[in-house]
Amino acid sequence: NVPANTRALNVSLGGSASAVVDKITVPTGYTAKLLVAWGDPIMPGGTAFKGDASETAAQQAKQYGMHTDGMHFFPLQGAGGVALSDRGVLCANNEYTHEDLLFPDGQAAGYSIAKTRKSQAAHGVSVCELRRVNGSWQVAKNSPYGRRITANTPCRVSGPAAGHALLKSKVYQITDAGSIATGAISDGTTAVGTINNCANGTTPWGTYLTCEENFNGNFGSTSAVPAPASGETGKLFNRYGLVAAGFGYRWHETDPRFDLNANPNESNLFGWVVEIDPANPAAAPIKRTALGRFKHESAQHVVDAQNRVAFYMGDDERNEYIYKFVCAGTFNPANRAANRDLLDSGTLYVAKFAADLTGQWIALLPGTIGVNGVALRDNPNFAGANDAEVLAKILIKARMAGDAVGATMMDRPEWTGARPRINGYSDIEIYCTLTNNNRRGSSATPSANAADGSTTAGSARPAVDAANPRANNLYGHILRWREDGKTVTATTFTWDLFAQAGDTATSKTPKAQYEGAINDSPNGSADYGAPDGLWFDPFGRLWVQTDQIGDGSGDFINIGGNMMVCADPATGETRRFLTGPNKCEITGITMTPDGRTLFVGVQHPGEDAPFTNPTQFSNWPQNQWSVEADGTTPLPAGRPRSAVVVITKDDGGVIGT
Ligand code: FEO
Ligand code: CA
Ligand code: CA
Ligand code: CA
Repeated sequence: NVPANTRALNVSLGGSASAVVDKITVPTGYTAKLLVAWGDPIMPGGTAFKGDASETAAQQAKQYGMHTDGMHFFPLQGAGGVALSDRGVLCANNEYTHEDLLFPDGQAAGYSIAKTRKSQAAHGVSVCELRRVNGSWQVAKNSPYGRRITANTPCRVSGPAAGHALLKSKVYQITDAGSIATGAISDGTTAVGTINNCANGTTPWGTYLTCEENFNGNFGSTSAVPAPASGETGKLFNRYGLVAAGFGYRWHETDPRFDLNANPNESNLFGWVVEIDPANPAAAPIKRTALGRFKHESAQHVVDAQNRVAFYMGDDERNEYIYKFVCAGTFNPANRAANRDLLDSGTLYVAKFAADLTGQWIALLPGTIGVNGVALRDNPNFAGANDAEVLAKILIKARMAGDAVGATMMDRPEWTGARPRINGYSDIEIYCTLTNNNRRGSSATPSANAADGSTTAGSARPAVDAANPRANNLYGHILRWREDGKTVTATTFTWDLFAQAGDTATSKTPKAQYEGAINDSPNGSADYGAPDGLWFDPFGRLWVQTDQIGDGSGDFINIGGNMMVCADPATGETRRFLTGPNKCEITGITMTPDGRTLFVGVQHPGEDAPFTNPTQFSNWPQNQWSVEADGTTPLPAGRPRSAVVVITKDDGGVIGT
């Protein structure tokens, strides 16, 4: 069962365990270079990064966005349809903005619609063509594939919830001067923009999935928002964390589209998985409602032997759930167009983990009986004129449907990854990072709301359970499950914990365990905490990326900065591969088909630096390199920049061999 080529990870330690250096460190024998960073031009008409954040919104809208996250390299095809390893289209998420770094004078001074528009232009997705020329990777800055998708890009809404009344929102004329209500209400099949694009997925038919996570933070209001007792909108706001203060963005002050009171249904148009076709830059992104609405982290697909397709998804918030969506149709490998709308019909399931290492997928359908003995169609949260409307409400309020059926509250489900079925390994085995949870383990287990089965999981303090065994889980863990019958349509599975992350060097409580692991690097130097990014390369190596404080302080004093480790799924052997700059998060990973070029994302180096001293915590990447990977594009001095690095092996070999 062991993929032979993962046995010899042969990846030596990159970086020391506790020292945080403000650079990317990779193992001896590897080289990292800067591929593309916030503000780089990626499409025709783009302007070069200035360094002082003086770009306008229109200029930002043709540059790489801020705070890179999940990404995927789509190879272009050469002669005979061969997937190229020296030319492709990179789709990358730009999750959020650090407003003080985005403007020369920070966020507060003279806040204006111009600032809102620039912030909106720095969110979304960056699509750029990459080429390797004479051994050096570069962004093709004038490529027709180059594209920015922002908070203001027109999108389509499809699937069972499209057209539902809750998705009908005010129509605005969007200009540089502000968003002006036209007096019309949309028909619920259109949306404007995508935000908080965290991790990602792909489809078997070659499209990109960008997942909307903390969309609630971008909305706000200058007055109190509806309370749960006031009705459906108040309940939705409460369950999805929509509050007047937001996360400190000020978009709603100048753009009424993001004002929760002016336009309450607008928030229902976010929290979806959005499909983007990298081969067709003119095509509108599509919000696929069949996959449910929550704070989506990633969407990992699996195609089984019957060509049935499932997408495995986490909802990243304390005590939220793990989901899967199974397409009703089958994948047609011979006809790309035939798969175009596979994401529009199927079944959304939520996971329930039992102490005996078995589990169940519970279908979120109108006839499913909740823990209160009432079918979802008879639950007041989902009541509708017919089952089609009930299903639409289940999808829009997926979290509340998970509450109603008693799904297992997890320690913040982040990325999902599927172990390749190669070298004799044939199980459908999915891994999920559970990054941490400081709201588990008190005495009080929340009781269900008698009327609707709702538990408002986000504010709950559930007891520890087998799948989430630590009270106050500081360091996180990785859980995996195997679908019964080796099919994605299974409604039962078996599971175990792959790793409990933490600090083995000092055996702090709770003690870390790399289950069945060798963890053979000395002094706990393969330790990590707060696993977030997780991805299997096509050769069977498991890569795990972390998102903790990142400056080697507090609970991470023996662990150091954020990092990427490589693990063997068969043995648990884990070694550190890369360590990031100060106060960054390592997130986003993809590879060329030949395995010889690895792309890794660095988000928010120097997190929380004030505009008055932007380099207070980090001056990366210009402190590490003077030019980009192409060898010619200079890096101006200035504020720290989220970026994608390109990593190759000095002997030209496959990464990790
Ligand atoms: Fe955006 Fe859950 O990380
Ligand atoms: Ca993440
Ligand atoms: Ca995270
Ligand atoms: Ca982070």
